[in-house]
Amino acid sequence: MTIQWFPGHMTRAKRQIEEKLKLIDVVFELLDARIPQSSRNPMIDEITGSKPRLILLNKADLADPVQTEAWARYFRDKGHATHAIDANIGTGVKDLAGKSKELLQEKIQRQISKGMKPRPLRALIVGIPNVGKSTLINRLAGRNIAITGDRPGVTKGQQWIRFGGELELLDTPGILWPRFDDPVAGFRLAATGAIKEEILHIDEVACFVLKILVERYRPAMEERYGLEDLPTELPDMQAAIDVLENIGRRRGCLVSGGNVDYEKAATLLLRDLRSGKLGRMTLESPE
Ligand code: G4P
Repeated sequence: MTIQWFPGHMTRAKRQIEEKLKLIDVVFELLDARIPQSSRNPMIDEITGSKPRLILLNKADLADPVQTEAWARYFRDKGHATHAIDANIGTGVKDLAGKSKELLQEKIQRQISKGMKPRPLRALIVGIPNVGKSTLINRLAGRNIAITGDRPGVTKGQQWIRFGGELELLDTPGILWPRFDDPVAGFRLAATGAIKEEILHIDEVACFVLKILVERYRPAMEERYGLEDLPTELPDMQAAIDVLENIGRRRGCLVSGGNVDYEKAATLLLRDLRSGKLGRMTLESPE
């Protein structure tokens, strides 16, 4: 899904989430485990205010498990409950009711002490496009439901999806805008497919990614593409282009005359990265 975010859209998105917050007990903030910081909305604290929030590192199946653990520690140190999941196949998803209860323990205890029977906790999923909101809603619903979100001009009655006896989820997620302030975050978002290549050129995205992959995951790169003696780092753009050329040659991405088709090589690299064929990789570390 591509959304052009203009100031009016952002204001509307913020307002729509603020409206939904009145209905719920807990926010599930969905991040991409491969780029937890870059896939985070820059105004999330302001938008969700004091509402209890659980950070979900989604697509953990594609991310480097050591890095996912480091990110979970990082967010927990900052006071955020954090949990890694894979919405596609459902790993970690069944823990969401328990995690929500932990977060809302005091409220639940207050209800019990007043003699009230605790009702199911109500949750809202928020996150930037393509982070897996619809996938998680469908996973919790146990079926495919048409999720329209709140795109401008689209209105739809909101419904609750029951998950077990203890959790209810609003079926329209809160769609947030990604970071625009940091060009490096933009490249990371493009690398994972969160923003489309029409915005950033695919060759440039591939070269950006290669720098990270060679530094962090050199053996996996050498193995996948039959490359030998990759340098430990790519100091400049030309070094990255050389590696891309090598990959293109090895994989037969050629144009007439035997020259490398860089765009084809870049597409192949990004497809391999996004599908996990290169292995489980994370593109940024907590600082
Ligand atoms: P959104 O509602 O937040 O916009 O995201 P959506 O659920 O549509 O998910 C975007 C893509 O991410 C989908 O792939 C979906 O299958 C994939 N995805 C979601 N959660 C996970 C996960 O935990 N692990 C993995 N490996 N993939 C996940 P798609 O339909 O192929 O779309 P696209 O990648 O071609 O855009």
